[in-house]
Amino acid sequence: MTRRSRRIAVYPGSFDPLHNGHLDLIGRCRPMFDEVVVAVLRNEEKRPLFSLEERVEMISSLVADPGWCRVESFSGLLVDFMDRVGAQAVVRGLRAVSDFEYEFQMALMNRRLNPRVETVFMVPREDYIYLSSRLVKEVFALGGELSGLVPGPVLERLRERVGRR
Ligand code: PNS
Repeated sequence: MTRRSRRIAVYPGSFDPLHNGHLDLIGRCRPMFDEVVVAVLRNEEKRPLFSLEERVEMISSLVADPGWCRVESFSGLLVDFMDRVGAQAVVRGLRAVSDFEYEFQMALMNRRLNPRVETVFMVPREDYIYLSSRLVKEVFALGGELSGLVPGPVLERLRERVGRR
């Protein structure tokens, strides 16, 4: 199969940190795409809890699958990154109506920047519909229970970073 005929999707985000809703979505890409590139945004100005390198390494250890899924970092426009990796589709998760307006704006702007780019929205498993990286960090910092919501290695990293057992 040539690079042009492969259905390549980019799943972009901050992933600070990755949670089970993200993992669920990556799994849902399997029957739809020949390859998925998880693209971690370089967003140091947002003061992420985990550095870009930590996020790429953590996610790679959980999802990298040679020939099917790889993890890369990116900065600049998403559509330019997609051109570099030969992707036609952006995958985004839609959880609730509150996600819709932001996602709709991004999808239309990305299409305006590159009309060949399609955005594919996917709905995660119901158990994860309320989950966000922001809530994961907040609940963890305040002592809440997160097992079943974030992968074990991410929970371990949170313990190291936030200093809670
Ligand atoms: O998980 P997030 O933080 O909601 O992901 C947002 C992300 C990374 C998809 C978005 O910020 C993005 O694509 N940034 C790259 C810059 C860009 O292309 N901006 C124009 C998008 S319309």
